[in-house]
Amino acid sequence: MADFLTFMHIFFVALLLFTLGALTFASVRLRRTDDLNEFRIFMNLMMTGGMLAPIGLIGAGIFGVLAAWEIGFELTAGWLIAAYIASGVALVVPALTFKPWGEAADRLMEQATSEGRILDEQKELMTGTRYTAVELFMNGLLIFILFVMVYKPF
Ligand code: HEM
Repeated sequence: MADFLTFMHIFFVALLLFTLGALTFASVRLRRTDDLNEFRIFMNLMMTGGMLAPIGLIGAGIFGVLAAWEIGFELTAGWLIAAYIASGVALVVPALTFKPWGEAADRLMEQATSEGRILDEQKELMTGTRYTAVELFMNGLLIFILFVMVYKPF
């Protein structure tokens, strides 16, 4: 049973990492393009990724706790508490930042289409300094979680 639960945990981790790879690709392409159609395509990819990533994270969290329990780890071990907190933050921060910013950029699509170009406001929303800052924070958080999972330092 422990093997199955760990497998499911890693399955959702893989879904999460695959999704984050696609999101990073889309984010880089959004930064580089001046073409409205391309911008729209990568916005759509980001919105799909934005729906899949929390599924991966929640699945990883649920099966992570179940696997930890079944394996016999102390559920209040430091590395697990770090994982609960970091996973919670990883769930909440994008919902309060990337999600509303993406939705705002999406609402401007009609105006962008009528003007036939990517609006400055859309570029700023999706590639501006604050977007980049949250991206860096989220990548750091991911590396922290992976480190804690593999090395269980506390
Ligand atoms: C509430 C959140 C989480 C809990 C309770 C949890 C729990 C666990 C447990 C019990 C294991 C098995 C450890 C072992 O047998 O040595 C594990 C392994 C692993 N977890 Fe998590 N996890 C959580 C979130 C995550 C997240 C979000 C990621 C990825 C970003 C992740 C990535 C991994 C990886 C890569 C392993 C394999 C580590 C290894 O075998 O060295 N976990 N996790």
